[in-house]
Amino acid sequence: MKITEQIKLPIETEMELFEKKFHKSMESNVALLNRITHYLVNRKGKQMRPMFVFLTAKMVANGQVNERTYRGAAVIELIHTATLVHDDVVDDSNKRRGFFSINALWKNKIAVLVGDYLLSKGLLLSIDNNDFDLLKIISVAVREMSEGELLQIEKARRLDITEDVYYEIIRQKTATLIAACCSLGACAVQPDDTELVERMRQFGSLIGMAFQIKDDLFDYTDGPIGKPTGIDIKEQKMTLPLIFALNNCTSKEKSWVINSVKNHNKDKKRVKEVIQFVIDKGGLEYATNKMIDFQQQALKLISDFPDSPYKESLELMVNYVIERKK
Ligand code: IPE
Ligand code: IPE
Ligand code: MG
Ligand code: MG
Repeated sequence: MKITEQIKLPIETEMELFEKKFHKSMESNVALLNRITHYLVNRKGKQMRPMFVFLTAKMVANGQVNERTYRGAAVIELIHTATLVHDDVVDDSNKRRGFFSINALWKNKIAVLVGDYLLSKGLLLSIDNNDFDLLKIISVAVREMSEGELLQIEKARRLDITEDVYYEIIRQKTATLIAACCSLGACAVQPDDTELVERMRQFGSLIGMAFQIKDDLFDYTDGPIGKPTGIDIKEQKMTLPLIFALNNCTSKEKSWVINSVKNHNKDKKRVKEVIQFVIDKGGLEYATNKMIDFQQQALKLISDFPDSPYKESLELMVNYVIERKK
C-alpha cells in the first residue's frame, strides 16, 4: 500500500464526504467562474491540509468529528487553493499540479479575481454557520500569509536575507496555515480546551516549517513535482540552501552569487551554475538537517497522546511531509 493510502485509512469516509462538500462550496452562478473552479477541482493537490484537520480532530477526540470539522477543512482547502492561484501570479509561474496554472490559461486579471472569490467563499462558509472561533483561527492565518509573502518580496529586493528572517518568512507564508489546520481540528471538537488547541497549533507550525523547507529543496532538484524547478533564483528568492551557501563561502564567491541572482537571474545557464554552487557548498544537506530538526520537534509534541490509529497516521503524515516526492 502507498504511504498516502495508509495515512488516509482512518479518515477515509471523512475525506470522501469532505470532497463533496469542498466541490459544492465553490459553486457560482457565473459561468466563467464555474469553468475555472471545475478546472481547479479536477486537478486536486495532495489535500494534506484537510487530512491534518481530520487526523488532529480524531486523535484528540477519540475518533469523533462533527459538522464544524468538515466546514473547517473545506474553508482551509479553499483558502489554500486561493493562495496558490495568487501565488502563481506573484511568482509568474505557469505550472501547478502538473497542469497549466490559472494565470497561464486565463491571465493574471482573472486569476486575481478567482483567488479573491475562493477566499471570500471560504470566509463565508464559516460566517454563515457561526463558526466564529474557527474563523478567528483562519483569519489570523490569512493575515500572516499575506505578511509573509510581502516580507519575502521585500527581502528578495534587497538580497540580504538571514537564516532567521527566512524562518520568519516560511513560518508566516506556509507554517501558519498548517498550524491553523491542527488548531482548528482540535478546536472544532474540543472548543474549550485552550491548552490543547495551542499545543496542536504549535505542532502544525513546526510541521509547516519542515514542509516549506522540503518545498524549497524541491526547487534545487529536477524531480517531476508538477511545478517548475529552479524558479526561486529566477524570482530572486533566497531560500535556506542558498542562504547557507552564502554564509559559508569566500567574499569573492559571495559577490559572484549575489551578482548572478541580481543581474543574471533570467539566464538559465547562470542559474544552473548557482544551483550547482549551492549543492557543492552542502546547502541541500544543511537544509535537510534543519527540516528534520523541525519534524522531530513536532513529533515530540504529540508523543504523549495515547496510541490510536489516528495518532499513528498523524505520525506517518509528519514523516511523509519530509519524505514526499512532490
Ligand atoms: C504548495 O502546497 C504550497 C506551499 C505551501 C509550498 P502543497 O504542496 O500542499 O500543494 P498541493 O495542494 O498539494 O498542490
Ligand atoms: C508557497 O509559496 C505558497 C504560499 C504559501 C502562498 P511558494 O511560491 O514557495 O510555493 P510553490 O513552490 O509555488 O508551491
Ligand atoms: Mg511564492
Ligand atoms: Mg510559487
